[in-house]
Amino acid sequence: MEQTLSIIKPDAVAKNVIGKIIDRFESNGLRIAAMKKIKLTKEDAAKFYEVHKERPFFNDLCEYMSSGPVVVMVLEGENAVKKNRELMGATNPKEAAPGTIRADFAESIEANAVHGSDSLENAKKEITFFFAGREIL
Ligand code: CMP
Repeated sequence: MEQTLSIIKPDAVAKNVIGKIIDRFESNGLRIAAMKKIKLTKEDAAKFYEVHKERPFFNDLCEYMSSGPVVVMVLEGENAVKKNRELMGATNPKEAAPGTIRADFAESIEANAVHGSDSLENAKKEITFFFAGREIL
């Protein structure tokens, strides 16, 4: 069993499709082990996306991720990291395969509906960033 971190981003929360996105996870063998709705500060977003700090889109990304509430979740299941990324689709919704979350709900490469950890190692770090052990059930 693996765990991975998922974020439903401000664009998807504003569109009122939290339930539709969660259904994709639950219908495809992933279980929600932890979940909360929060509003990040720009500083929180900068810390979370620190690996991207030299990228030209970093400042805009941090502004965007702190522009409205997000839903953060720990998803659990077999090959959860890979499974979640398959369900999300490509970062750029224009390149995302039909039927993926980003193809169906994302607005743009920045406002791309969801985030998912890209490796098991990063999943552990990202889960610890948002959740205390007692919140993961
Ligand atoms: P995410 O999977 O959360 O990881 C980093 C985020 O940076 C990514 O999704 C996008 O929202 C954003 N991102 C990646 N590439 C670009 C880009 N070229 N322009 C703007 N935002 C980007």
